[in-house]
Amino acid sequence: MKILVTGGAGFIGSHTVVELHKAGFEPVIADNLSNSNRGVLNGLRTIIGQEVPFYELDCNDSAALRDLFRQEAFGGAIHFAAYKAVGESVQKPLNYYENNLGSLWVLLKIMQEFGVGNLVFSSSCTVYGQPTDLPVTEDTPRQPAASPYGNTKAISEDIIRDHVFSEPGLKAIALRYFNPIGAHPSALIGELPLGVPSNLVPFLTQAAAGLRESLTVFGSDYNTPDGTCVRDFIHVVDLAKAHVKALELLAEQPNANYYDVFNVGTGRGNTVLELIKTFEEVNNLKLNYTIGPRRPGDVEKIYAESRKVNTVMKWEAEKTLAEALQDAWRWQQKLAETHVAS
Ligand code: WQD
Repeated sequence: MKILVTGGAGFIGSHTVVELHKAGFEPVIADNLSNSNRGVLNGLRTIIGQEVPFYELDCNDSAALRDLFRQEAFGGAIHFAAYKAVGESVQKPLNYYENNLGSLWVLLKIMQEFGVGNLVFSSSCTVYGQPTDLPVTEDTPRQPAASPYGNTKAISEDIIRDHVFSEPGLKAIALRYFNPIGAHPSALIGELPLGVPSNLVPFLTQAAAGLRESLTVFGSDYNTPDGTCVRDFIHVVDLAKAHVKALELLAEQPNANYYDVFNVGTGRGNTVLELIKTFEEVNNLKLNYTIGPRRPGDVEKIYAESRKVNTVMKWEAEKTLAEALQDAWRWQQKLAETHVAS
């Protein structure tokens, strides 16, 4: 079955393309390369052993997307394509609403036109804001998002849900990611942040590689075991596998008008300092870091209650934090060798 992977040249998208192929699906990438580059396609070709069909297009471009659906008979779609920098979304909210909601709207319309009835949507734990009860379950009330980025994810979930219940034949699952980290064990694909990384692990590996002066830990006065924030860090390969499971669950649904939401996390929380110490231990190196002020908008602690995804989707995280940090470091070293633009 051909699966459209929008944003499939991105960090999570590319790792999902690998797992889709392994599971016998035929992934087709549509990506405008606004936050990735064609080098990813070379890595995918080596890992998979064959070319992955790639179409450079913007999902807001309905004519281009319609042409693609005419050329490829899709059985389903996984929608990753979106802007995802939390801080940038505060600076440029209209860009985020236009791009993230516009691309979803176009995709849903074209899927409807061509009768493509299976959608997996890339959502985010940011829809929970700062939850009062931990771990968060899917029933935890969504909070007003701390950023326009998070708000686009919450609104997108509502758009999909409303459309599913009005559109006979459409089934959809939203996956709420926690903190994806790491890279493919081959080090042929990984996270390719353009410019200065805002996320912890790519900044950390660049600091370890000497590309950044030092890592600043944003705040050590939180109400947590060591004062630094708690997150649910999930290996990107485990997260990619959850998308395959979601497609398989959709295929099992007898009726249409099926919509559900799943937290995709390890179910474990680690502090920023615990992650740093784990990185140093497993990679046998010393990281240069300082403690700085809190970063506005950060939630103090969040991690997933993953029982639903474990039982209903029959998926659970297999890789450890240590493995993710080894893979992240191996990828950073490979980047240094290949001088891939970043
Ligand atoms: C993690 C922790 C920082 C950088 C984001 C998105 C969320 C999801 C995951 C997509 C925080 C601290 C960070 C640094 C630091 N993405 N940190 N120094 O903000 O938890 O979540 O990625 O679905 O939508 O919001 O990730 O990696 O930026 O931060 O101390 O240089 O690391 O304060 O506590 P975040 P992050």
